[in-house]
Amino acid sequence: MALPRLVILISGSGSNLQAVLDAVEAGTITAVPSLVVSNRKKAYGLVRAETAGVPTAYFPFKPYRGAGKSREQYDADLAELIRPYQPDLIVLAGWMHILSATFLNCFPHKVINLHPALPGQFAGTHAIQRAYDAYQRGEIAHTGCMVHFTIPEVDAGPVVAQAEVPILPTDSLADLETRMHQAEHQLLVTAVQDLLTK
Ligand code: GRF
Repeated sequence: MALPRLVILISGSGSNLQAVLDAVEAGTITAVPSLVVSNRKKAYGLVRAETAGVPTAYFPFKPYRGAGKSREQYDADLAELIRPYQPDLIVLAGWMHILSATFLNCFPHKVINLHPALPGQFAGTHAIQRAYDAYQRGEIAHTGCMVHFTIPEVDAGPVVAQAEVPILPTDSLADLETRMHQAEHQLLVTAVQDLLTK
C-alpha cells in the first residue's frame, strides 16, 4: 500500500520539520515527505529538507505584493504548486503567512498548524514571549503548545493535540523557548502520526 504523503510549509529554522523528518527516518511517522515549501529564501529548513532528499520549493509572497496581486491569488497559486503532490496532510511548521479560505478550501480537513501556546491563548507572533511576560505578571501558571486544524482565523481551529509546558520561576525566556520547542517536536510527531493512522 502506498504511504501517505506529507507536504510541510516552513518559514524559518525548521526544527519542527527536522523532528518530522527524523520521525519518518525512524519509522515513527509512516509517510513520505513529498515537498517542503518555504516563503523565505534563507529558511534553514530548506537545507534540512535538501539534506533529507525531500523536494523543496521557494514560494515568496513579496513579488505578488510588488505586482499588486492579492493574497488570494498567492494562496490560489500556492495551492496549485502543492496540488500535484497530492498531500494527505499539509503541515504548517513555523509557516509565517496567514492562509485564506482560497487555499484552505482546496485541501479540506488536511491542513494542520503548530502553535506554541494553548488553545485560545496568545494567537499570533511572539506567543512564547507573551506567555513568559504573562507569567512574570502572575497572570498564568503555565503555557503549552497545540496542533490544530487550520481555519482562516489565525492560530485557531479544531484542536488535534495539546501539551502543557511548565514555566519555572528561574526560567529565562531562552529556557522557556528551549522547553517549548522540545514539547512542540514531540507533539507534532505524535499528532501527525495519529492523523495519518485514523
Ligand atoms: C515554532 O515555535 C512554531 O510553533 C512557531 O514557529 C516556530 C518554528 O520553529 N509557529 P522551527 O522553524 O520549526 O524551528
